[in-house]
Amino acid sequence: MKVLSIFVFGLLVCQLAVADDFENQLNLQFGRASAFMKANVSRPDGAPGSVVASPSRRDPDYYYHWVRDGALVMDALETLMFKTSNYDEKYRIRSTLKDFTYLSRKMQVTETVGPALGEPKFYLDGSGFFGPWGRPQNDGPALRSITLIRFAQMLIQENEIDFVKAHLYEATIPAYTVIKSDLEYVAHHWQDSSFDVWEEIKGDHFYNRLVSRRALMMGADLADQLNDRSAAKFYREQADRVRNDLYRFFDANRSYLVATLNRTDGADYKDSQIDSVVILGILHGMQADGLFSPSDERVMATAEQIIRTFRELYTINKRSNAPGIGIGRYPEDRYDGMGISTVGNPWFLATHAMAEYFYRLASDIRNKGKLRVTPLNFPLLKALKLPSSVSLSIGKTLKASDLTSALRSRGDEFMMRAFTHMNQETGQMSEQFNRYSGYMQGAHDLTWSYASFLTSYWARQEM
Ligand code: NOJ
Ligand code: NOJ
Repeated sequence: MKVLSIFVFGLLVCQLAVADDFENQLNLQFGRASAFMKANVSRPDGAPGSVVASPSRRDPDYYYHWVRDGALVMDALETLMFKTSNYDEKYRIRSTLKDFTYLSRKMQVTETVGPALGEPKFYLDGSGFFGPWGRPQNDGPALRSITLIRFAQMLIQENEIDFVKAHLYEATIPAYTVIKSDLEYVAHHWQDSSFDVWEEIKGDHFYNRLVSRRALMMGADLADQLNDRSAAKFYREQADRVRNDLYRFFDANRSYLVATLNRTDGADYKDSQIDSVVILGILHGMQADGLFSPSDERVMATAEQIIRTFRELYTINKRSNAPGIGIGRYPEDRYDGMGISTVGNPWFLATHAMAEYFYRLASDIRNKGKLRVTPLNFPLLKALKLPSSVSLSIGKTLKASDLTSALRSRGDEFMMRAFTHMNQETGQMSEQFNRYSGYMQGAHDLTWSYASFLTSYWARQEM
């Protein structure tokens, strides 16, 4: 008896130690990822407020400010500002966000190949890039305005209305402030054919629509606050139209949300339309009204479909010596980080996004209190390690509390997978890790890889 209880106790301590180790690793990586991310912002050879996609200058050359990467990274930095209790850090980030505001305005009016607001990337000093590229990319203005509207709201609270009106939002048309220009662009162009997040396919994209809708809804609230009533009304009308358009992206025959419809140009080999960009859309486009929330059965079906696809596709995912599954962009991907003559690989930012999805799914279900099992969400639930007391069957309603820890563990597996492939000494992360060997490849120190770690970390904290 005594021997047995010592043994059981030993096992328990062991498990707790493993859990503790993982928490410690998360916290350690949080500090490192924040530092590596900040090192790529406002570099000495770039304009203040610029974000380099990666310090890599060749093979590949990522030494540019991409509007999308810049907005997402600044958004993570902004969250860091809200969360930190370090006053100096708060202050530094706040002034970086002001620099980002000035630089963004410069980019909106700088000379470029096409309309400046649809340009995907700029040199670090804010001047236009004139080489051939997939353009326009219309997610940029939506993402940038989401980041800056949050900033404007904070400044309004702090009575810095003068800065807001001079640089961020003023009702005047033609617009001379950043947010107003972006919102006008989004409101008038969300239905245009544009290149996707991966810069390869021109068409209508689920991701672009979801983030456009969020920008328009947040923008309408800001416009109301600043007495731009007719604009607020117009932005809300457009947001409603986007919502109605979004339903088309659920393919009822294939039972998942597809990334793109109506391809008009670009890569033509993406038959499955299974794409982790749909999950990115859920994470970046989520609104309080719950449209396509993480626990929407269509979203749950899509997430599980993506996981299964990459589990089968990548050799490293089939070997059992590491936990979790590396997630790539889409199965037909040919971009190896330098060119498109081989095959794609798992990406850190997509693998982190899947972790974040499970954490946010847990929070979403907790807020609702329960979840009904349906044919569409069944496969995802079936793949969880649920307590033995919980039996799964379609039509049954599950209590949120029965799901929480299993969802967290599933999310943790993706974080662990990313840990397996990063630089073990330093915590550095590139863009991809090789699907056969697991070694990192593609642009080193990809800024977005770090930002995606941070947002997943916070989503785990908040669940
Ligand atoms: C570079 C882009 O950034 C990447 O997303 C794309 O896959 C390749 N070019 C190939 O078009
Ligand atoms: C390639 C990715 O596909 C694209 O989304 C990203 O903006 C650029 N690299 C820069 O990181």
